[in-house]
Amino acid sequence: MNKKEIHLHYTTLHLTEADRETQDLVQEAQRAASRAHAPYSKFKVGAALLLSDGTIITGSNQENAAYPSGLCAERVALFQVGHLCNGQSIRKAAIAVPHVMGEQIIPPCGACLQVFAEYRNAQDSEIQVILANGSGHLLVAPDISTFLPFSFTNKHLSSD
Ligand code: THU
Repeated sequence: MNKKEIHLHYTTLHLTEADRETQDLVQEAQRAASRAHAPYSKFKVGAALLLSDGTIITGSNQENAAYPSGLCAERVALFQVGHLCNGQSIRKAAIAVPHVMGEQIIPPCGACLQVFAEYRNAQDSEIQVILANGSGHLLVAPDISTFLPFSFTNKHLSSD
């Protein structure tokens, strides 16, 4: 029997303590949240992805009367990158939930993490994740793997 451990590293800070690039990206994610179509949950989320060439791609959650037809903010942004930004890698991802105040930080859902893992694996470089709430509280993780350390990727498809 082998007992093993995983250590996760992340930082919490306030928006005012963050570097300029992070502040700007969080602001983009917050702006994106205002474009959410969330009449059912009233839970507006925004995502902003900073690409290797400096481009920022944003997304917001888009809900539907037929509930499963909606999509989270992160995947709205990620699929745009997949479709439009071939060859670019994602350096940083800011995810904002501006109506959540106080200390609470909202993590990405499992389905979004799986999609993050797909692009992370394809680009073979880390995606820094910045989670922001409406009070300016941030959680910064060095890579998406912090949230999904055992991700299923195409490497597993070819294993015997
Ligand atoms: N939502 C996101 O946009 N991102 C997440 O990671 C979690 C949940 C959205 C989906 C739905 O429109 C609303 O938040 C409530 O679940």
